[in-house]
Amino acid sequence: MLNLKSKSLQELIDVVTWITDNRYTSKELKLFDDVKQLYELQLSKLEYLRFHDDLDEFLKRTAYFEEIFGKKSWHYYISNVKGKGQIGHTNQYMTHWFYPYKGKFHGQMVKALINFANAKGNDIVLDPFLGSGTTLIESTLLGLNGVGIEINPALAIVSQIKLDALRIDYEDLAEIDLSKMYKIFEYFYNLKIDANIKPKVEENLTAKELLNTLWENYFPSSFIHDYPFEVRNLLLLIYLHALSDFTYLQGTKKSKKIQEFFIENFKDYLKTINGCCKVIRKLGIELGDYRVLIGSALDIPLKDDSVKAIVTSPPYSIALDYIKNDEHLLRYLGVDVKELRSHMIGLKGKGKERIRIYEIDLKKSIEEMYRRRNVQNSKARWVGCNCLGGYKYRRS
Ligand SMILES: C[S@@+](CC[C@H](N)C(=O)[O-])C[C@H]1O[C@@H](n2cnc3c(N)ncnc32)[C@H](O)[C@@H]1O
Repeated sequence: MLNLKSKSLQELIDVVTWITDNRYTSKELKLFDDVKQLYELQLSKLEYLRFHDDLDEFLKRTAYFEEIFGKKSWHYYISNVKGKGQIGHTNQYMTHWFYPYKGKFHGQMVKALINFANAKGNDIVLDPFLGSGTTLIESTLLGLNGVGIEINPALAIVSQIKLDALRIDYEDLAEIDLSKMYKIFEYFYNLKIDANIKPKVEENLTAKELLNTLWENYFPSSFIHDYPFEVRNLLLLIYLHALSDFTYLQGTKKSKKIQEFFIENFKDYLKTINGCCKVIRKLGIELGDYRVLIGSALDIPLKDDSVKAIVTSPPYSIALDYIKNDEHLLRYLGVDVKELRSHMIGLKGKGKERIRIYEIDLKKSIEEMYRRRNVQNSKARWVGCNCLGGYKYRRS
């Protein structure tokens, strides 16, 4: 008798015949071996439906297929630039793993959702709860225009740096030897940023502008200022990553001095930047534009009907205290924590009142997104939301 429990769906039936409605088998279109979850198979089908008449484009865009007629897909190469904590071809590849933000979602799934929404050419992809930038990393790798909104200025900076890192020339970093690394560490370690940064929702400052202000007004001039802007920022991110590792691993078997985390992470970042440069050159990827705004999902500064795809993951109500998780980061960068908390969805009010306000805010943010979606000439009319860990799609 067949033991269904021990078999994956892929072993029981040729799922590619189901995905392609009997047009192809898994000998012709091959899924990655670790595509097993039902939602992954469903998304594989949805992205296939978008590209079934242009398999060359599908090879470049697919998130879940490893091979198309014996040729490796772009996602195969992209997800082979491996990062810390990566699961298969799913997450943490390329610059996704930079800075260990708790609450990231999976790049592979985001890519499939963008495909499903049919975003192409100059279309805009929006994430109004950008967090650490996952959606925009995927949209830029697909050559699309991304707009991200994040209320937390520190996270907006993290996203901007992770995105810019895709354009850094490996040679600019490779020249930093061990002695310079120590000096760089000392610089960031001794930095006392007294900025009192508040999220000014109505100003819609970009993360890039904020980074410029920090370097010009709060970071004392030093040899670091001779490095290109993107390289300086990456060094800052490596320090922030070390600070996070130090904070979370204190008192455990893995605890180390911040300096040791910094040096170790620096070497790993270097490997990733090298990998990104190689794969972007090899495949001839033309990165799309992106804009990271420090603002609120309750007041999206985009015209009505201007956005093709919205892929987002709103705050999980009371499940996570986003401020507490990143307190070390916020304090280091001089962000006004009290002011930030008053703007954050899910953190306003106490007890039952908090849930009531959360629902009102979430509804308002969905209305804001809904007004911005562009449904003209499009088969895709959906808003993709990850609410409380489950994926829900609302038909427009
Ligand atoms: C679940 S996280 C998003 C994580 C993101 N998908 C990623 O991969 O990194 C939700 C984000 O919403 C942000 N947020 C909370 N209130 C907001 C608001 N009013 N406007 C914009 N962003 C907000 C939080 O700071 C948090 O980063």
